[in-house]
Amino acid sequence: MYEQVSHSLLNEILTDLKPNILAQDLSHFYTRLGANFYSIYSLFNTLYGKRDDFKQQMHKLVETMARQYIQRPPHLKQSDVERENDHNWFLSQEWVGMALYADGFAEDLPDLLQRVHYFLELGVNMVHLMPMMLCPAGARDGGYAVSDFRHIDPRFGTLEDLQKLTAAFHKHDILLTLDVVLNHTSDEHEWAQRAREGDSKYQDYYYIFANREVPDMFEVTMPEVFPETSSGNFTWDESMGKWVMTVFNDFQWDLNYSNPAVLIEMVDVILYWANKGADILRLDAVAFLWKKIGSICQNEREAHLLLQLMKDCCQVTAPGVLFIAEAIVAPVEIIKYFGEDAINAKECEIAYNASLMALLWDAVATKNAKLLAQGIKSLPDKLERATWLNYVRCHDDIGLGFDDNDIRAVDYEPYAHRQFLIDYYTGIYNDSTSLGLPFGHNDKTGDTRISGSLASLIGLEAALHFGDQSEIDDAIKMILLLHGIILSFGGIPLLYYGDEIGTLNDNSYLQDPAKANDSRWAHRPRINWEKAALRNTPGTVENKLFSGLKKMIAVRKEIAAFADFNNRVLLDVGNPHLFVFARFEQNFPTNRVLVVANFDSAPQHLNLEDIAHKIHFHGDVIRDLYSGETPAMFNDELVVPPYQFYWLTNK
Ligand code: GLC
Repeated sequence: MYEQVSHSLLNEILTDLKPNILAQDLSHFYTRLGANFYSIYSLFNTLYGKRDDFKQQMHKLVETMARQYIQRPPHLKQSDVERENDHNWFLSQEWVGMALYADGFAEDLPDLLQRVHYFLELGVNMVHLMPMMLCPAGARDGGYAVSDFRHIDPRFGTLEDLQKLTAAFHKHDILLTLDVVLNHTSDEHEWAQRAREGDSKYQDYYYIFANREVPDMFEVTMPEVFPETSSGNFTWDESMGKWVMTVFNDFQWDLNYSNPAVLIEMVDVILYWANKGADILRLDAVAFLWKKIGSICQNEREAHLLLQLMKDCCQVTAPGVLFIAEAIVAPVEIIKYFGEDAINAKECEIAYNASLMALLWDAVATKNAKLLAQGIKSLPDKLERATWLNYVRCHDDIGLGFDDNDIRAVDYEPYAHRQFLIDYYTGIYNDSTSLGLPFGHNDKTGDTRISGSLASLIGLEAALHFGDQSEIDDAIKMILLLHGIILSFGGIPLLYYGDEIGTLNDNSYLQDPAKANDSRWAHRPRINWEKAALRNTPGTVENKLFSGLKKMIAVRKEIAAFADFNNRVLLDVGNPHLFVFARFEQNFPTNRVLVVANFDSAPQHLNLEDIAHKIHFHGDVIRDLYSGETPAMFNDELVVPPYQFYWLTNK
């Protein structure tokens, strides 16, 4: 939009740009800046307009974008233009992701480079490398306590090693996803060190208070993220003699985004990693970016404005780069991280589908899909050009973040139902063979989250221990079923490394004092490559899982109806054990796939004629695209074996 005030400021800023910037070919940059400037200005003005240095800060922001644009390598500029021309590229069903620690999946970055063939073998073409930026020795929260945003921790290798890996990824059309930890720094970051030394410029980078007056006001409404290990949201810093806001661990200092200098620094970091070849940036803990006394300090409107601003800036300098919102919050809040009042995504193009993840675990424990179907029904529609990251588990704990209204709607009592799930997954419940571990128990609220590898949570570890073949088979089926859903739901499926070979809990973290009090390490394994080699030995657990997933991935990539264009219809089939939805091909809506999953231990029946009128799916000739076979019918009804899923077509 053309608007006089902002554009006269833009002219002023452009005239003032340093000669070395002006001397460059900035034609694409100028076009994009012109298109986005009114939005950038309005957001910056809403957040920082009252400050005396507003104009100066705007100058700095534009200069940062221009400087990074100049540094953007030509091949990435080329890919920006290609992606602008093919702007729905990331909605395609061809993408399949995996999240991993470079020093868990492999030894380090050079070793990871030797293992790229594994992704090609499985069909994974989007790899999220967990954070690798410099962190202090002990207090690093798995890489999320960063002490230098631009340096790779030597444990992983060097920036050059990462560049080599990036080049190999790009050669094989594998997308690279990297983290940017926006909400906090380590207390050993230079900014924190300078603040400690009394430098007021850097004290303004954080929320620092001389006494408890303001912290106490905040504490009234702020929940605790790590209640067991880091209670409260403020930490006393002895050397400063002041209180610092530390929402996560006491060594993670929250950045103060009411200071525009912080925003500009972090935009610079985002663009730095974009220029190093990241295709996608995972923005960590975005719900927490803005703090307000009297609120829970999550999902504030200003947090959204900051993300919109970051997106606008990234679109000017590196428009081919996508953002993932890591906002593990209530279902109605997550969806807002795509952007709210636009047709197209204005914040992050991708968001973790934490709602689906938690609902899947509910279905596993209850053996029915009542809450799963209800929760999905309640999910608001996404914007266009926005997509989910669908996952079964990730490096974090599993939080039971369902909406209480949904729980009640399916006749459970919220507190008791959550308690059942906690008992189920921690193996306390009688019928459970799950070997999960409690995480983040909060005495005040009774809340507990769950750690543990997929295989151990689902009962594979216990079944292997007792040598119970039928339970082993059931666990394998259930692991495949869960993936059958995330691969067909709509969005980018994100596998978690090790799950493809049934990696069990790793309790060695208990020997390491820096990890012992964080049960999430039980499911952050070091891959045993001898075990992984068994994927090639028919009959092994590893082979059944790996080959099942490999096939599923290959088939997914061929099914255009699995691309994500809000082309899913949930079907109520009157059988709580079945989760059923249909996917339609965007350009040929008569091409449909019916996804049917049975969470129960007994076979279930589905009368296809009952749903035929809703989706024009006729049961006369049907085929399961995953197995390539015609499923069993009895009395004209589809029979779905225990823990089985189908991707049905009637073509
Ligand atoms: C995110 C990360 C989690 C980390 C937290 C604090 O939620 O996924 O692992 O502990 O942020 O940085």
